[in-house]
Amino acid sequence: MSTAAPSSPSGGISRPTSLGGVLSVPGDKSISHRSMILNAIAHGGALVQGLSSGDDVISTMRCLQAMGVSIEPAGAPGSYTVRGQGPQLTEPEDILDAGNSGTSMRLLSGILASQSFVSVITGDGSLRSRPMQRIVQPLKQMGAQILGRQDDSLAPLVVRGGSLQGIEYDLPMASAQVKSAIMLAGLSASGDTVIHQPALSRDHTERMVLAMGGKIEKNDLDLVIHPAELNAVDITVPGDISSAAFWMVAGLCHPNARILIQSVGLNPSRTGIVDVLQAMGAGDSLQLVDQRTEGGEPVADILVTSTELHGVEIGGDMIPRMLDEVPILAVAACFATGNTVIRDAAELRVKETDRIATTVEELTRLGAKIEPREDGMIIRGRQAGASELTGADCESHGDHRLAMSMAVAGLLASGETTVHGAADTSVSYPAFWQDLDLLLEEAR
Ligand code: S3P
Repeated sequence: MSTAAPSSPSGGISRPTSLGGVLSVPGDKSISHRSMILNAIAHGGALVQGLSSGDDVISTMRCLQAMGVSIEPAGAPGSYTVRGQGPQLTEPEDILDAGNSGTSMRLLSGILASQSFVSVITGDGSLRSRPMQRIVQPLKQMGAQILGRQDDSLAPLVVRGGSLQGIEYDLPMASAQVKSAIMLAGLSASGDTVIHQPALSRDHTERMVLAMGGKIEKNDLDLVIHPAELNAVDITVPGDISSAAFWMVAGLCHPNARILIQSVGLNPSRTGIVDVLQAMGAGDSLQLVDQRTEGGEPVADILVTSTELHGVEIGGDMIPRMLDEVPILAVAACFATGNTVIRDAAELRVKETDRIATTVEELTRLGAKIEPREDGMIIRGRQAGASELTGADCESHGDHRLAMSMAVAGLLASGETTVHGAADTSVSYPAFWQDLDLLLEEAR
């Protein structure tokens, strides 16, 4: 086994003799976006603490500031005061830029749909290639006028907002972004909005709207959103389980690891990765310590230690509960015994990259036995006769989660791995490489 190697974006990554330490991951990205957006359209001021420092959340903040919302740093890192404008924002002077962030574009479109002005929202090359028909269609049905490239299906989007009517809508996919866009529009509509979900996706919008005095009825997978004006609330954002997942897999799969990840959000609509790792045999090597409720969301510290995982078959309702964690789960599957089959995850094809294609391509460079399927992948794990992964040069494809997944694969593989595009981690986890260094310090 090699000793720890430099882990900076420019250096190679290799397997350290041990991996250990205590760290905190960035604030949950989904909750961070919503804490800004919902407080911006609420009445009153709010203090948000623990906000994600990732580029995606900064994109949301800049768009809101461009529409007259005052968002100011409030001392400690990650602390901001937001001054709510109420449901009507100010016409932006320029094009709104959502950067790489699908959540910014889709949720903000739900707000733009009811504004008394015309706005244009765009993003980077990845975001401009991602499907927007899924929000354009229901928002048009509610009365907004929206134009976009390719028959109104791609950004930039031009939104002429106006008065909206509530609709009854069968959500074609279990998407929290689409659900939230419709819910945000529904808050300003006349009449109720009913959404039928095909499966449960993350429910942070529902929780926050309720905490702000809005009225949403939930009946299994059906939601009824009543028009409402919101009152600002202070929010403490928990750590992002999607960021913690990288260290969970690193700790479980490395032969000599002990990692404590502090204050991670454990909303049940997000804990699919914990359930799947348990189904792979994590047992006591993945412990939720000091479980508590903070700011209306369940939170715990996560303690991971080395173990042997085995392959698993996943699909169905589990997928929306861990969709963003599939690339890092694929890394875990390479180090598990037996095969892992991932189904019903075609939504991965329309993320920041086509994550089925990019995960397969990059893990293959390290020698993984991984095959793409239209809606998922099959990974052959450690089997008699099969060799472990070997470090190689790999690419982020501009995708933050792929960059971090490949870094973890590099920590577990023999030889040296270089991740090109390492700086892309800043989209959700700007301190990723520093935290990786922290875990390596024990081995130095
Ligand atoms: C998110 C929802 C998910 C997820 C994304 C964040 C959110 O996307 O992949 O990273 O904050 O609502 P979909 O809802 O489109 O599946």
